[in-house]
Amino acid sequence: MSAAEPRRAAERLNGVRGMNDVLPADEALWQRFEDAVADAMRAYGYRRIRTPIVEHTRLFVRSIGEVTDIVEKEMYSFVDALNGENLTLRPENTAGVVRATIEHNLLYDGPQRLWYAGPMFRHERPQKGRYRQFHQVGAEALGFAGPDADAEVILLCQRLWDELGLVDARLEINSLGQSDERRAHREALIAYFEANADRLDADATRRLHTNPLRILDTKNPAMQSLVEAAPRLSEFLGDESRAHFERLQALLRAQNLPYRINPRLVRGLDYYNLTVFEWVAEVGGAPLTICGGGRYDPLIAMLGGKDAPACGFALGVERVLALLREQDESAAHGAQCDVYVVHHGDATLEAAFGAAERLRDAGLDVILHCGGGSFKSQFRKADASGAQLALILGVDELARGEAALKWLRSASSEAASAPRQESVTLDRIVERVLEAMTDED
Ligand code: HAM
Repeated sequence: MSAAEPRRAAERLNGVRGMNDVLPADEALWQRFEDAVADAMRAYGYRRIRTPIVEHTRLFVRSIGEVTDIVEKEMYSFVDALNGENLTLRPENTAGVVRATIEHNLLYDGPQRLWYAGPMFRHERPQKGRYRQFHQVGAEALGFAGPDADAEVILLCQRLWDELGLVDARLEINSLGQSDERRAHREALIAYFEANADRLDADATRRLHTNPLRILDTKNPAMQSLVEAAPRLSEFLGDESRAHFERLQALLRAQNLPYRINPRLVRGLDYYNLTVFEWVAEVGGAPLTICGGGRYDPLIAMLGGKDAPACGFALGVERVLALLREQDESAAHGAQCDVYVVHHGDATLEAAFGAAERLRDAGLDVILHCGGGSFKSQFRKADASGAQLALILGVDELARGEAALKWLRSASSEAASAPRQESVTLDRIVERVLEAMTDED
């Protein structure tokens, strides 16, 4: 561009629809959530695994199922321009974890308890609680056949909700039985819906012969009574499937964990057998599934591994955080630091830097005011930072070998209208701040 040419405003670029930035104001909440997740996983002996975001498309087609919504219309798939491979941004991570388990022969060392966290991608219509890039935390118990593993992953969820202080998440469970039991049920369902073909909507008609089970999941009010009276899978379960489901329920009852059997709970992925479950909560007044999972015994063999049972779950991080924000407004606001250092500028800068460094040495989080400004505007920033204390370094105080401490937000401060302030000699700053912070705990 020549110097004479007028500068044109550059076009503003926005993010991709349905893919969100997590801004710093939200970080305290995300951090609290991530800490609670790591604690809960550790408490049950789950170890973290990190798999790539991009996998071969056929991994998801084979595991999630060709006639599921995810594979039919929600995957971000592309051809690698350099080598022609068909690749997909992972829409979920059970398939990736199972792929990695097989590839690295992890089950050779016995059953594995694994967990993961990270972004997933589904091309859905964005709305509250539904995004195109969203985050999941999941746990997979691989190599365990019994209902004890099912109960364990469910208890893990409950512990996480408790640790987060999340109330009102309801547990729904169901048993999908084994494939031969589902086949018999499927035939009965097709016969039933065929006999009532005039009452099916377009979606249901399309699914009748490909995935009739999904018709049971319809949100169409006009079809509710039809679906309600349809043959139930529970009537087709054999003794072993029934015993597995009943043992799971006994284990949950013994831990006083309330649940509801939802015979219409079918899940949107094809790899499940026996136990399936979902945690549902009201978010913004509407019920939303915050977490889903179940047993997927056929999957490891379906992906080329040696036959081994497995179960697990994944929760939607954005949905859980939305619920937390709703239930506890204060949860949304975290402090950026413990101490905010206010000072007079050039004449006090060395002392301010020194005090801030010593406070950090003592393990405190400190923001040193940068950019000058009046004490009044500095205090406004100190207040907005969420700090407990402001450390004030003024020229006059420094000349006396002193600084001042001001309590910014203390329920226990003697008078909220006249915030407490006291002088402290420079050599006692760290000691006094630590005392003050302990008093506030
Ligand atoms: P899923 O039910 O497809 O299961 O997803 C799990 C959770 O991810 C949902 O309950 C929901 O909270 C969240 N979620 C799904 N789609 C979106 C979206 N578009 N926007 C925001 N949140 C979303 C699975 O993915 C299985 N892999 C779970 C599993 C693990 N089963 C066994 N092991």
